Amino acid sequence: MPDRKPVTVVGVADDRLDLLGPEARLALTDAEVVVANARLLALWQSWARPSTGVPSMLEVGPDSDDMVQQVWSQSVEYARRVCVLAAGDPGFFGVARALLRRIDRHQLIILPGASSVSLAFARVALPWDDAVVVSAESRPLDEITSAVRTASKVAVLTSPERPPEVIGRSLLEAGVAVDLAAVCSQLGTETESVEELSLADLATGSFDPHSVLILVGPGGLPLIGWAASKAAERNPLANLAWGLPDGAFAHRPVVTKAEVRAVVLGKLQLPRAGVLWDVGAGGTVGIESALVRPGLTVMAVEDSPEEAAQVAANAAALGAGVHVVTGRAPEVLEGLPAPDRVFVGDGALASLEAALARLRPGGRIVASFASLDQAAAAASTLGNLVQIGAHHGERLDDGGWRLVARDLLFVAWGPGIDDEPDSPFVA
Ligand SMILES: C[S@@+](CC[C@H](N)C(=O)[O-])C[C@H]1O[C@@H](n2cnc3c(N)ncnc32)[C@H](O)[C@@H]1O
Repeated sequence: MPDRKPVTVVGVADDRLDLLGPEARLALTDAEVVVANARLLALWQSWARPSTGVPSMLEVGPDSDDMVQQVWSQSVEYARRVCVLAAGDPGFFGVARALLRRIDRHQLIILPGASSVSLAFARVALPWDDAVVVSAESRPLDEITSAVRTASKVAVLTSPERPPEVIGRSLLEAGVAVDLAAVCSQLGTETESVEELSLADLATGSFDPHSVLILVGPGGLPLIGWAASKAAERNPLANLAWGLPDGAFAHRPVVTKAEVRAVVLGKLQLPRAGVLWDVGAGGTVGIESALVRPGLTVMAVEDSPEEAAQVAANAAALGAGVHVVTGRAPEVLEGLPAPDRVFVGDGALASLEAALARLRPGGRIVASFASLDQAAAAASTLGNLVQIGAHHGERLDDGGWRLVARDLLFVAWGPGIDDEPDSPFVA
């Protein structure tokens, strides 16, 4: 049997053969046979200069077994130098996996181009190192839906069985929160289209089945960078402190008062990064958390659109990066990325249970209550309870002071007991 020669796989990004690097150009001109689908072969034919001596060409269809057999036979049986032309990055949902079923890894040279997902995220100008990528070809609809529910940024490589509109319908039916949906089709070609749509328009539209569908949910849009830069300019807590005066929030009423907020923030033990849910308490805890920890992804959940607008206005006025989610807890919580910290205001025990079910390992929940019964129930679940009573000093007519009791509340936090009582026994 003749000696085998390496197989080179050249990935073409943006259909731009003219942008190929010297190594890829050499592999193509030096090849004895170029293998590709009809589209890429036509592209190669129109680009290759006849003077370079065009190698023989082998057209392959969508059947990957057939393609592998043809490449194997050209390379191994006929000992020809083979160059396979492929779209994007051949190692990313591409021909590399199929080729490796028959061709030794050491006989394969891969020269990748930018993948379709890389191009799609570039078109909508978003980073994607934090994105989850799923191929609709191999994933059932419910797996795609749950990927979008749990990851804040997803790219779906769509397929004829599951084109963009079918995925849109499934997301709509499942009530998954999506802030940005973009269908990116024919990337790099003259007929490229990038459409940003609402979920309803996605579900009712008709799109190229071979597209990249970008879906960004709560926390996925770049609020963090915005928060970090804005907060540096306007953050009233530039000196590390918390318990911002209630008057700092222009749009009122402020539900969680300054002294209670100060305790809640302390109990939350906010990490530098991660996800914080502020569930239904006017958003001031979330806003302050974003100010003291600009690296946090903060989601304030509000049921009423008016209150949601107030939270957004307060956050904007203070330069805090807070993502306001309008919806009813606990149902709406299902669509949010799993939290590292949760504040539940207003004695919402059902939300507390839902938060506990989704809390990431090592996470913490703090909840405030006016009712002792509810606070006791929460404390039984979470492990810790404190009563907060702030007495505000007020001036009397004679210039003296009196103390007025305000903000009597219970705060429960956990899970896990913070303060083990000292052992009565001396070791
Ligand atoms: C088998 S995968 C190939 C991925 C390829 N290796 C890459 O790096 O992009 C085919 C899927 O990639 C996506 N795709 C490939 N080329 C595309 C393009 N030019 N525009 C939009 N999507 C594309 C579509 O989702 C298509 O169904």
